Amino acid sequence: MNTRRLPNIGLVGLGALGSAIAEKLISEGTALSIWNRSSEKVDNPALKDATACSTIEELCQRSMWVLSCVSDDGAMLQVNRAIATSDNKPAVHLSFSSCSPTAVQQAATHASDNSISFINCPVLGRPDVVLAGKAGYLVAGETPSVKSIEPLFAKLGGTVSYLGENSEHAATIKLAMNYFIALTIGGLTEILAALGHDQTNADAFLDVIGKSPAGSPLISLFGGLISRQEFSPPLFDLQLAQKDLNYFADLTSGNPDYFLCSAIKKHISTAATSTDHALDWSGLASHLLK
Ligand SMILES: NC(=O)c1ccc[n+]([C@@H]2O[C@H](COP(=O)([O-])OP(=O)(O)OC[C@H]3O[C@@H](n4cnc5c(N)ncnc54)[C@H](OP(=O)(O)O)[C@@H]3O)[C@@H](O)[C@H]2O)c1
Repeated sequence: MNTRRLPNIGLVGLGALGSAIAEKLISEGTALSIWNRSSEKVDNPALKDATACSTIEELCQRSMWVLSCVSDDGAMLQVNRAIATSDNKPAVHLSFSSCSPTAVQQAATHASDNSISFINCPVLGRPDVVLAGKAGYLVAGETPSVKSIEPLFAKLGGTVSYLGENSEHAATIKLAMNYFIALTIGGLTEILAALGHDQTNADAFLDVIGKSPAGSPLISLFGGLISRQEFSPPLFDLQLAQKDLNYFADLTSGNPDYFLCSAIKKHISTAATSTDHALDWSGLASHLLK
C-alpha cells in the first residue's frame, strides 16, 4: 500500500470503470466520498469504506479534489457544471471519462470561468486492469494543478502520460488509441470469422501470431475473447466503443474516404442491433460469428 496521505477526494460516477477506480483508491487507504446518479451502485460492498453522498453538492463540500467517470460528453459536461457552480468548489475537477476534444475544451473553459482547475485524464485499460494498478492515464491540464495531483497517480499505479496544458489533447490521443483498438478487434473479427468455425484454425492462427513480431497483449486478449465467443458481460460496453468511434469520426470531418473508419462503424452498429443484451467490445465480432 502507498502510505502518502491525500486530501479529501470525491468520485462522481460508479459505473464499471468508476467503481474500479474507487475500489483501487480505497484499497490504497484513500478516504473517498462517492456519488452516483442512480443510488443502487453506491451499495456495492467493495465500496463500503467510502462515504456515500446524496448529492454532488454534498460530495463537493467534503472534497478538495473531485474526480468523475461518466459515460459521454453530455454526462461529463452536466457533472462539470454541477461541480463548477457548487457552493463549495473543490480546487480540481479531474475527468476520467472518454469524451470529444470539443466537450473537454468546453468543460475546461467553464471550470476556469468558475475558478476551478479542470484536468482531463482519460484511461487506457478495462476495470480489471485498473484494479491491478496497471492502467494508463493520459493527463492534460495546467502544469501546477497536474503536479499537485501527482500523489493520486502514485495510489492508482500504472503509467501516466503527460500530454501538455491543453486538456483536449488527452481526449484526441485517447480517441486515436481506441480507434486503433477497434481496428485490431475488427481485423481479428474478420480473420477469425473467415477461418470458419473450425476452432483448430483459430487456435493455430492465434498461437502463430502470438509468437510472431505481430503479436501483442491486445491481440491475445481480444483474439481469445472472440475465438471463445465471450461477448458478455461487458467490461467495456460496445455502446461506449461506438460513442468513441463516433467522436473519432468527427476528427475526420466525416470524410467518407476514411474507409476503415466507416467499415468499423458498420460492424459495431450491426453487432449492437443484432442482440437485446449488452455486449462487450469483443462483441463487435458477434454478428459475423453467429
Ligand atoms: N469500462 C471500461 O473498460 C472503460 C475503459 C476506458 C475508458 N472508459 C470510459 O470511462 C467512462 C465510464 O465508462 P464505464 O464503463 O464506467 O461506463 P458505465 O458502466 O456505462 O457507467 C456510466 C456511468 O456514467 C453515469 N452517468 C451517465 N449519465 C450521467 C449523467 N447525465 N449524470 C451523471 N452520471 C451519469 C452512470 O450513472 P448511472 O449508474 O446512474 O447510469 C454511470 O455511473 C466512459 O467515458 C468510457 O468510455 C471505460
